[in-house]
Amino acid sequence: MCRIVFLLAVISILCPSAEALDNGLALKPSMGWLHWERFLCNTNCDTDPNNCISESLYMQMADVMVEEGWKEAGYEYVCIDDCWPSTQRDAQGRLQADPKRFPGGIKKLADYIHAKGLKLGIYGDVGKTTCAGYPGSLGYYETDAQTFADWGVDLLKFDGCFMNWTLLGEGYMNMSKALNQTGKSILYSCEWPLYEWAFHKPNYTAIRETCNHWRNFDDVYDSWTSVKSILNWTTFYQDIIVPSAGPGGWNDPDMLVIGNFGLSHDQQETQMALWAIMAAPLLMSNDLRNICPRSKMLLQNSRIIEISQDPLGKQGYCTAKMDSFEVWERPLSKNRLAVAVLNKQEIGGARGFAVRLIPGWKICNPQCNVTQILPQYKEMGVQTQRSSIVLSVNPTGTALLTVTPISSYYKKLYKLYWKPMSIKQNTIL
Ligand SMILES: *[C@@H]1O[C@H](CO)[C@@H](O)[C@H](O)[C@H]1NC(C)=O
Ligand SMILES: *[C@@H]1O[C@H](CO)[C@@H](O)[C@H](O)[C@H]1NC(C)=O
Ligand SMILES: *[C@@H]1O[C@H](CO)[C@@H](O)[C@H](O)[C@H]1NC(C)=O
Ligand SMILES: *[C@@H]1O[C@H](CO)[C@@H](O)[C@H](O)[C@H]1NC(C)=O
Ligand SMILES: *[C@@H]1O[C@H](CO)[C@@H](O)[C@H](O)[C@H]1NC(C)=O
Repeated sequence: MCRIVFLLAVISILCPSAEALDNGLALKPSMGWLHWERFLCNTNCDTDPNNCISESLYMQMADVMVEEGWKEAGYEYVCIDDCWPSTQRDAQGRLQADPKRFPGGIKKLADYIHAKGLKLGIYGDVGKTTCAGYPGSLGYYETDAQTFADWGVDLLKFDGCFMNWTLLGEGYMNMSKALNQTGKSILYSCEWPLYEWAFHKPNYTAIRETCNHWRNFDDVYDSWTSVKSILNWTTFYQDIIVPSAGPGGWNDPDMLVIGNFGLSHDQQETQMALWAIMAAPLLMSNDLRNICPRSKMLLQNSRIIEISQDPLGKQGYCTAKMDSFEVWERPLSKNRLAVAVLNKQEIGGARGFAVRLIPGWKICNPQCNVTQILPQYKEMGVQTQRSSIVLSVNPTGTALLTVTPISSYYKKLYKLYWKPMSIKQNTIL
C-alpha cells in the first residue's frame, strides 16, 4: 500500500518496504486508550471498585472521551488489556468475560462503546495462557477470532507470553488469517518482534504483512528511565524498524503515560513529541476521569496530533546526536519536515540549540517557513539555511518544529534529502 506519485525516483521512498496487512485499517497510527500501564491487573472490585478491571471502567472512559474532547481530538479506541476473562472457557470452548466484573458481557460493552461513536479493543495471547495467567488462544485461534467478531470487537492486542518461540510467527500468522476469515475487519496489534528479538532478528516483512502494529521492546513504565530506554532502543535499531512502518502497519513503542505520576511536564512533552515523530500509535494509559489540565492540553494538542497522523505515513529518524542533544526528523506531506530537538542533559537549566545544526535544515535553502509547536506555539517566520535562531530546551524536554520549504527547487532537494538516513552516517560525536 503506497501513495502513487509520478516522480519515479521518489516511489521507493514513499512505499514502505513491504505490503501491509490488507484489512483496510490503521492507515494512520491508531489513537485511543488502553488500560494496562495505569490499571494493570487490578481485579479487586470489592475494595477498589473505581479502578478495577470491570465493564464500568471502560464505560466511564468512553463517557469522558466523548464529553471532554478526546474523541474530537481523534482518540477512538477504548481498549481492554489483560485480566478481563474468566479463568475458564465456556462449554463450547469459547472465551468468556469474568461474570462478576463484566456482568453485561463483552457484546453489550461493545454496543455501549459503539453507541458513543467509539471502538472497542480486546486482549488475547498467542500462547497457552496470557501473561497474567488467563486462558491463551493457542489451539483456539479460529474460535477466539470468531468470538471477538461476534461480539463486535474492533481491535485485538495479541500478547506473546507462554509460547514456544519457534512457533511464535506461525501463531501470529494463523491468528491474522483467522481474524481475516471472520469477514470483520479487526485491527491486529502484535507483540511478535518483542518476543522474537530475544532469540534472533525478526522478519519485519512478514510482520508487516501480518499485523497492523507491533511492539518491539519492553513495556512502558511511568518513568523517564522507561521512556528514555524506549527512545534509546529505537535509535539503536532504527535502520531495521523505520522502513517497515507506513500506512496499514506501524512500530509500536507502547502506551503514552502522560497524565500519570512519573514524568515531569517537560518529559511528557518529550513523549508526546517523539511518539508523533515515530508515527507511533497514540494509546494513552491514564485516568481520563482525573487528569491534570496541562497534560490534557498536551494530549489534545492538534498540531502534534497532525504530525502523528500525517498522510505521508513515514516514521521519523534520529538524525543527529551532539553535545547531549538528539535531533529527530520526520518527513511530512507537502515536502514539510517535523523536527524534534531533545535535551538529554539531566542537570542545569535550559540549553540553547542552533537550528542551523539540524541535518534537514538544508530544505531551508533558499528559504523556509518555521513554526514552533513545543514547548509553546510560536510562528518563527521565514528562515534561511544560515538562520541564527537558537531553541531553548529544558533538561529532558523537547522543542518541536515544523519546517515548510519555500522554494521552486524543493522537489529536487526533497529527493536528495529523503533517502532513509541512518544516524550512523549523521552522528556528530
Ligand atoms: C482478508 O484478506 C483479503 C486478502 O488479503 C483482503 O482482500 C480482505 O479485505 C481481508 N478481509 C478482512 C475482513 O480483513
Ligand atoms: C518448541 O517447538 C519445537 C518445534 O515444534 C520443538 O522441537 C520443541 O521441542 C518445542 N520446545 C518446547 C520447550 O516445547
Ligand atoms: C498454524 O496453522 C497451520 C495450518 O493449519 C497448522 O499446521 C499449525 O499447527 C498452526 N500453528 C500454530 C502455532 O497454531
Ligand atoms: C521474510 O518474510 C517474507 C514474507 O513472508 C518472506 O518472503 C521472506 O523470505 C522472509 N525472509 C527471511 C530472511 O526469512
Ligand atoms: C541502548 O540500547 C542498546 C540496544 O538495546 C543497548 O545495548 C544500550 O546499552 C542502550 N544504552 C543505554 C544507555 O541504555
